Amino acid sequence: MKILMLTGSPRKKGVTARLAASFRAGAEEAGHEVERYDAAFMKVSPCKACCSCRKNGGKCVYDDDMTPLLGEEGKILSADAIVLVSPVYYWGLTAQLKTVVDRFYALGRSMREKDQRVMLLSAAGDADEAVMDSLKAQFRSLCAWTRWQDGGMVLAVGCHEPEALDQTDFEKKAYEMGKNL
Ligand SMILES: Cc1cc2nc3c(=O)[nH]c(=O)nc-3n(C[C@H](O)[C@H](O)[C@H](O)COP(=O)(O)O)c2cc1C
Repeated sequence: MKILMLTGSPRKKGVTARLAASFRAGAEEAGHEVERYDAAFMKVSPCKACCSCRKNGGKCVYDDDMTPLLGEEGKILSADAIVLVSPVYYWGLTAQLKTVVDRFYALGRSMREKDQRVMLLSAAGDADEAVMDSLKAQFRSLCAWTRWQDGGMVLAVGCHEPEALDQTDFEKKAYEMGKNL
């Protein structure tokens, strides 16, 4: 299975980086191929709503680090599964990953035509699970619109710093999610 991993944290060794590594280890052990793109280190212009993509077969006016991900042959539509990895920033995805998601616009309804699965790995400092409510709602709405199959979530609440993961089973859950795809 081809898995596209899109991450949103600017912290290379942060909490979600550890979740991403665990997921990847499980997925690769199970024989899947994981390709990772880190939004925080990509050059990605925010969608400017010019809607040119609607008139010219889905081609975005920007030629940046999103180019290989877009188009009928691009990484997004070619993946069997997509894993979104982001810390909670003010109840949602980081701006870095949201900028990437907004650029899905150029794919239009093509996103609804393939049988794909999507997973979410996230972390937040707040230990109250309600901190994830908005992010979960956004994820489910994205699944509903794209018709992507909801492959589940690992939501590491109470984890401001990576060391906090040591007292939890969130990494194990991320590993198992990858392994059991
Ligand atoms: C700009 C910013 C906004 C944040 N907003 C929230 C928030 O709304 N709720 C929360 O519990 N934690 C919030 N946090 C904490 C992060 O979600 C938490 O530290 C997370 O584990 C960071 O993941 P990372 O190490 O993978 O970047 C915020 C952190 C930053 C830097």
